[in-house]
Order: sequence, then structure tokens, then C-alpha cells
Amino acid sequence: MSAPGTSFDQSGILPVASGRASWRHLRRLLNEQRRPVTTVLVIQAVASSAGLVGPKVLEDVINNVTRSGGAGRIDTAILIFAAALVVQTVLTGVSRGLGAVLGERVLARLREQFVARVLDLPLGVVERAGSGDLLTRASTDVDDLSYTVRAGLPQLLVASVTAVLAMAALLWTAPVLGLALVPSIPLLAVGTRWYLRRARSAYQGEMAAYARVNSDIQESVAAGRTIEAFRLGPSRTAQTDRHIKEWIAWERRTLGLRTVFFGVSEVGYVIPLVLTILLGGLLHISGGLSVGAVTAAALYAQQLIGPVDTLLAWMDEVQVASASLSRVLGVHEIDPAPTTADEPVDEQVAARALAYAYNEGHDVLRGVDLAPVPGARVAVVGPSGAGKSTLALLLAGIYAPRSGRATVGGVDSHLIPPGRLRREIALVTQEHHLFAASIRDNLRLVVPDAGDEELYAALDAVDAGDAVRALPDGLDTRIGSAGSVLAPGVAQQIAIARLVLADPHTLVLDEATSLLNPGAARHLERSLARLLKGRTVIAISHRLHTANDADLVAVVEDGRITEFGGHDELLAASGAYAALWRSWQGGVS
Ligand SMILES: Nc1ncnc2c1ncn2[C@@H]1O[C@H](COP(=O)(O)OP(=O)(O)OP(=O)(O)O)[C@@H](O)[C@H]1O
Ligand SMILES: [Mg+2]
Repeated sequence: MSAPGTSFDQSGILPVASGRASWRHLRRLLNEQRRPVTTVLVIQAVASSAGLVGPKVLEDVINNVTRSGGAGRIDTAILIFAAALVVQTVLTGVSRGLGAVLGERVLARLREQFVARVLDLPLGVVERAGSGDLLTRASTDVDDLSYTVRAGLPQLLVASVTAVLAMAALLWTAPVLGLALVPSIPLLAVGTRWYLRRARSAYQGEMAAYARVNSDIQESVAAGRTIEAFRLGPSRTAQTDRHIKEWIAWERRTLGLRTVFFGVSEVGYVIPLVLTILLGGLLHISGGLSVGAVTAAALYAQQLIGPVDTLLAWMDEVQVASASLSRVLGVHEIDPAPTTADEPVDEQVAARALAYAYNEGHDVLRGVDLAPVPGARVAVVGPSGAGKSTLALLLAGIYAPRSGRATVGGVDSHLIPPGRLRREIALVTQEHHLFAASIRDNLRLVVPDAGDEELYAALDAVDAGDAVRALPDGLDTRIGSAGSVLAPGVAQQIAIARLVLADPHTLVLDEATSLLNPGAARHLERSLARLLKGRTVIAISHRLHTANDADLVAVVEDGRITEFGGHDELLAASGAYAALWRSWQGGVS
């Protein structure tokens, strides 16, 4: 049985949403924007309808001419024609603008939902997946999507509405001429499918082949002397020739694809026009249709070409975008971290029969019990790979146990929402992350409404107050990015001050100072010592002198606590701890 939040693929690859799930999500997004969507569609419908007035007016003029032999009210016709053109132009511009705004809104919602969901993911899932995949989804995939939404969505909206209306107008003018559209549909569908299936890999091949030729030439130029010295000229030339030939072959291939596809689509566009005129002509001869109606219908068939062309041209981009969308929406397929509303009743941190496995069937912790009296200091020692860091992650609520419980005040740690959990227990490792923001913002992450006095008090508590006061911008100093003016030690102290502000009653230290040089470590330990005062501390360390200071020592070996007791007591017992202590003493003396 797997614990909640750990049920997804252990390989760490985040899921990708299915086409249907993406579509459902997109519909829900558009539903949220129902008003703007309707507005854009209505305005575009009016604009496109205005575009359909021209052929109708022409139909009247032609019918007047053929019937009465005179042009009739031709100036009125021209006026209507011109007015329709103005309306169409203006409204198309408006709907494109609104369509672009709509696109940005949808994108913004997508990004917001992505970030919100990622922040709600179980920490263990994010740890396992690594940040790379999430970052790619948040950057590259969202960018691909943005391009299509920004540039494509307004055009696609305009084209779809125009195409539908032109078709409707054709059918309204002469329903039978709808037959003229029929042969094009399968032709365009099959042709487009054929092209899209081949185009992407062909263009990738062409780009790769071009890149090879480019690097051949660059290398040959850069290494000209070496090539001459070793008489590599002929072989370099032969290689470049071969790569050029490959490139040409790819060019031929993509050109071939374009030739076929453009040919097919041109035929697809022209067939309705030809058939409209042919069928219309026959019908006119048999007396079924006026010349005006045939003309109008032919013009509508002509009007279909532009929008259909746009729709087909965007097909490829839409495919890329939908692949990106599935990846962006993939995070919604993971169950969010389960949470509880239960409040811890006291400050007791406890592990009971705790077991955990990174890979099913291989427990790295088994039956671990640990319940230090609040305020106690426990040292956790043991050989590398024993499971100490895993124990720390479970106690701090970052992983959910496979079985057993890790609790704070009687509530399962991994179920407490992060914002509340950090007031109870915090994990301190050697990584101190500061965000690219001011010192004030970094500190306020944990106490959003803290005033400067409170912030300086926290900094003073870790001995960093004066260092920050001495900065020209004080708390407004930007840190965490390139060009930061802080000494690395101060940065670490700020991270520790953040813990002072969070004020958890229990701290789990996992080798917090092991990577530092002895001088820096002592400095940091002084700051840490102030943080630790009055709190429960579970300290994992290779440096056994922390064990010496601790009230109790737990020895972890192969996923279990094998010895537990006071330093002297364990030394007297001459077990694993005594052996570790002796070898450490030997090492430092
Ligand atoms: N992300 C992971 N995926 C799979 N196995 C892991 C992972 N992290 C740790 N392990 C394995 O779990 C076991 C316990 O590892 P853990 O890091 O808890 O040991 P440790 O006692 O902290 O060791 P060290 O003293 O070297 O830090 C080891 O066998 C380790 O290989
Ligand atoms: Mg470790």
C-alpha cells in the first residue's frame, strides 16, 4: 500500500495530461471567460457578416441589370458596399484586439493555476521529480503555448468565424451549391494530415543537417593550420561535401512535402469555386438560379479560401501548442498533498514504528521509534546510508511514511499545511536558499507582517543585525542574485534569522555545518546555537562532538535505531556508538 501523495510513478517523471483532459481543462478555462469569449465572437460575427454584404449587393445589381437592362441604384449599392467594408475593417480590428486580451487572460490563468498546483504538490513528489522538469514546463512549454495563443488565437478566431459565415452565406444564397464544397473536405483533411505527419521530423532533420554543415565549415576555418599540418584537407572537404549532400537531400524532402501539400491545398481551395460556377451555370441554364445568385455564391466560395488557408497554416503550431498544454496541465494529474485541519495539541515530536521506502520493497527505515521530551537535544549518528537524512525528511513532514507515523502534537506531520508546519518544526540542511529579493522580503516570507524592529531583533538573535545595519540600503538590500553584496556567512545568518522568525519549537538539523570550513562552521554554529536555545533539537552529524553535547544519542544503522541513550551510558555499553566514538576520537586527535 502506498501512502497518500506518494502514489505516482516513482521514476520521478511528472505526468502529462491526456488530450481529453487538456480539452476539458481548456473548456473550463474558456467557460470562466464566457463574457469576453462571447463578446469577441459576436463582434467578429458582425465583422464577418459585413464582409458578406458585398456579394449580396452585387447579386442585386447584376439581377437588376439582367432583368431591366439598367444598372438601377448603383450609387446606393456602392455606398452600402463601402460602409460594409469600413464596418468589417474596424470590427475585425476590435475583435483581434479583444481576442489578444482574451488570450493573455487565459494564459495568465493557466500560469496561475500551474503555480498554485505546483505549490500544492506533495514535497516528496517535487523532490523526486527534480526542479528541471517543472521549470521546463513553466518556461519552454508556457512560451510555446504563449506564441500560439498570442499570435494564433486572434487569427484563428477571425478565420473560424469568417469561414463558418461564408459557408452559411453560400448555402443561404443557393443551398444546392453547398455540394460544391463537399469534394474539398476529404481532400484538405487527408492532405493536411499527410503533411503534418511528415513535416515536423523533416524540418528537424533539415535544421540538424544545416547545423552540421555550419559546424564543419566553422571548425575547418578555426583549425585551418592543424588541418594543413596533418594534411586533413581532402578528408575535411569530403566530409563537408557529404554533409552538404545530406543537407540538400533534406531540403529536397521538405521542398517535396511543401510542393505536394501546397498543390493539394490549392486544388482544395479552387474546387469549390470551379464547382460553384459550373453547377451554378448549369442551374442557371436550366432556369433554377439567377446570374446574380451564381455570382454571389462564387464570391462566397472565393471568400472561404483566406480563412481556410489560415486555419491550415496554424495547424502545425496548434499541434505543438497542444503538446505543451498537455505537459503544463500534467501537474493537475497529480493529487495535491493531502492536508488536515487538526491542530497539534502540544509540542511533542514523535516517530512511531516509522517505515519508508524510496523503491517499493526496499525499506530504508523500518520500525523507527523516537519521541524526545520537548526541549531535549538528541544527536542522531550512524554510518553513511543508514537512513538518517530520510528520518529527518519524515520527521519534518516532507515525505509521507510508508507505514507508521511521524507526528507533531499528535498530528501527522506530512498532513500539516507547510505554512502551519513551519511554526512547529523546521528542517535545516546545508542548503540555505535566499530568494532574489530584498533582505526584508526574504525574512518576511515566514511572517508577512513583521515590522523592521522585529526583523532586526531576529537578525540580532543570530548575530547578523549589525552587518545588515551597516549596508547602505539596510533591509532593502537586494540579495540572492548575482551582484549580491553580502558575505556568504551573512547570507547564511539571514536564512537562520528566518527560522528565528518562523519560531518552530523543534529543529531537525541534517549536517547543517558539515560542508563548511572549520572557521565558517564555528561562526555558523554560534548563530545556530542561539537559534537552538529553548527548542527541541534533533541533530544529525558526523562530528560527534555534537553528540557529546546532546542529552541523548540515537544510533541509526541500516534503517533502525540500534542504540539509544546518554553519551556516557552508550560509551559504557561498548556497542556501535562506543566504536564510532573511538574511531572519531582517533580521527581528530
Ligand atoms: N532519493 C532517493 N532515492 C532512492 N534511494 C535513496 C534516496 N535517498 C536516499 N536513498 C537511499 O536510502 C538509504 C538511506 O539514505 P539516507 O540519505 O537517509 O542516509 P544517511 O544516513 O543520511 O546517509 P549519509 O550519512 O551519507 O547522509 C540509502 O541506502 C540511500 O541510498
Ligand atoms: Mg544524510
